Amino acid sequence: MNIQSKYIWLNGELVEFEKATLHFLTPALHYGIGVFEGIRCYDTENGPAVFRLKEHVQRLINSSKVIGFQELPYGVPELSEAIRQTVAANEFPECYIRPLIYLADGGWNLTAHTGKPSIGIAVWEWKNYLGEEALAKGIRANIASYTRHHVNVMMTKAKITGNYANSVLAKTESVRLGFDEAILLDPQGYIAECTGENIFLVRNGKVFTPPSAPILEGITRDAIITLSRDLGLEVVETPISRDQLYIADEVFVSGTAAECIALCEIDHRVIGVGKMGPVTQSIQQAFQAAVRGFHPLSAAWLDYVNQVVSQPIQISQTTSVA
Ligand SMILES: Cc1ncc(COP(=O)(O)O)c(C=O)c1O
Repeated sequence: MNIQSKYIWLNGELVEFEKATLHFLTPALHYGIGVFEGIRCYDTENGPAVFRLKEHVQRLINSSKVIGFQELPYGVPELSEAIRQTVAANEFPECYIRPLIYLADGGWNLTAHTGKPSIGIAVWEWKNYLGEEALAKGIRANIASYTRHHVNVMMTKAKITGNYANSVLAKTESVRLGFDEAILLDPQGYIAECTGENIFLVRNGKVFTPPSAPILEGITRDAIITLSRDLGLEVVETPISRDQLYIADEVFVSGTAAECIALCEIDHRVIGVGKMGPVTQSIQQAFQAAVRGFHPLSAAWLDYVNQVVSQPIQISQTTSVA
């Protein structure tokens, strides 16, 4: 994977890629005190377009609030504009976007509010997160031996960098066992989510997905629910057991990096007929149409990078998140 670009946006300016480095004593590195987003920009007939930019930036600000950062130098409009500028400056027609707000200074007494957060935005080309064939053929997963966060151990609504040690443990285990992805159970033993995706099952023509309290409220999950209902499918949010996945007609996952991918085998049980099913396929097609500008919902969900008049970024402005 080639994580390379021309510029990285750091605290209000575009910095050459090689110069965007951090000091060893950056507290975020030591305690996992940072919040981030994963966003995709798609190549469309009207140029590069960021999928659900406003929702992603709002979730980033919400994550800052959850972790306890009290003041950010930028709000939703400034960060959205910085993201557009970073995409435009790097000249990728299509890319993955990674904003990160991290504890850059102070906070050594294990508090978020006594330190100073910095903000960076990187972009890179990232086509197939779960492998080249995943989109068409689906992937194999297992139930992780690690449990997803209890809602009062780590905050599940925030994309906190430290939360992802749980994902790394689970995914490393799964890949070493020969699977492509891990499915994590919540502390009660119900299906929670995957390491970087939300999960859905299809049974008798209905779509089911776990309730949002113990999981990350995926922006793709929200899009999939909307698109499924638009296709006339009933979508039910309900606790799901491990064996309900085994006997489902179809299982699929959703996430910004992974997009919409079928799970064809779980714990060595074949799901449905062992390949992407018709419901997953129709939802995947609707999703691909939406992100590329060919769906009625594209107008609301796409933010065209080149159509926006760049405003100078207000470096002095502060946004309270407390
Ligand atoms: C743990 C986890 N669940 C779900 C998702 C899917 O969220 P989204 O669709 O907003 O990318 C992600 C990715 O951000 C994630 O890291």
